[in-house]
Amino acid sequence: SAAEKDGHDWFMRKEIHEQPRAVADSLLGRRTAEGHLHLDEMRLSDQELRDVDKIIIIAAGTSFYAGMVAKYAIEHWCRIPVEVELSSEFRYRDPILDYSTLVVAISQSGETADTLQAIRHARTQRSKVLAICNTNGSTIPRESDAVIYTHAGPEIGVASTKGFLTQLVACYLLALYLAQVKGTRYGDEIDQVMAQLEEMPAHIQRVLDDAPAIYEMAREHVDTRSVLFLGRHAGYPVALEGALKLKELAYIHAEGFAAGELKHGPIALVEAGLPVLCVVPPAGRDQLRDKMVSGIQEVRARGARTICLVEDGDDAITPYADRIVRLPRVPVLLQPLVAVVPLQLFACELATEMGHDVDQPRNLAKSVTVE
Ligand code: G6P
Repeated sequence: SAAEKDGHDWFMRKEIHEQPRAVADSLLGRRTAEGHLHLDEMRLSDQELRDVDKIIIIAAGTSFYAGMVAKYAIEHWCRIPVEVELSSEFRYRDPILDYSTLVVAISQSGETADTLQAIRHARTQRSKVLAICNTNGSTIPRESDAVIYTHAGPEIGVASTKGFLTQLVACYLLALYLAQVKGTRYGDEIDQVMAQLEEMPAHIQRVLDDAPAIYEMAREHVDTRSVLFLGRHAGYPVALEGALKLKELAYIHAEGFAAGELKHGPIALVEAGLPVLCVVPPAGRDQLRDKMVSGIQEVRARGARTICLVEDGDDAITPYADRIVRLPRVPVLLQPLVAVVPLQLFACELATEMGHDVDQPRNLAKSVTVE
């Protein structure tokens, strides 16, 4: 009923709008009075964590993209090598695992069969398994050595939204916790990053306040057959997730690319009128933003319709953008928390306008419990 959906037409739309709260809840109570990070069900000792020399993140679907963001954060803050792999591939390729490997399984439901089989395999190889999960008492956390629960609340829409944002939060917390335990130089920045994370619910709310403009843009795309998404650094998994949302909900062909790969193939797809959604990194010292701008110029020169997600105050893109979506100014590693929201809104509205069942897309299940 509409009441259960808080007046929204879909559970998914309600869940998108719950994201500021879900992110805040997932951050709640993680710091002690002395300012140390504390994770409730981190049942691995500091020594066990200091012995970790490699992390393998396994997940499926949207959770896999959270894992890709986690790799950027963990390697940057903790200097531990991280691999990210699809659960369904990991299990069957004889991966190299031992007691010093930490396997991180990310699963909203905690019941995805491929991910469950993967952690069972990892444990037979004596690896430690940490689950990031939204469902208390589900199978994956029960079979893991440690858990970070996300506090998104129940997610009903088949396509994950608040589940994803809270997984990102859990990944940042894990990265910061490992930095704290290992005492890397970024350990000193934990306070600062936690403070930035605590500002994210307000930033996400600001993006949601702009929903009407995104909805209007989405409705202009009902006849679209194909959409490309470009991103780089932590914006690359955001591009992949934006494309997945469009496939899942609107049944539109959509692909996400790392912007630096454009010239190695994807640019051949560009033709007049093709919508290209570009997640522009914040302007910073590493010139990622400038490289992205030149990618946008290239697709636009070939006739693409560019829709650019750009941080506030960055006007470099304006001459090359057919549409601009403003994002709050946040550090590059945290940008996925705000950048993915317009893409969720876009897919949800486009699918609604096309007359599709957003909560129960065809052929999909909320949790895939068979391999
Ligand atoms: C299904 C759902 C997706 C989800 C994926 C992984 O495909 O439709 O929304 O991302 O499973 O699910 P999990 O519960 O393991 O995160």
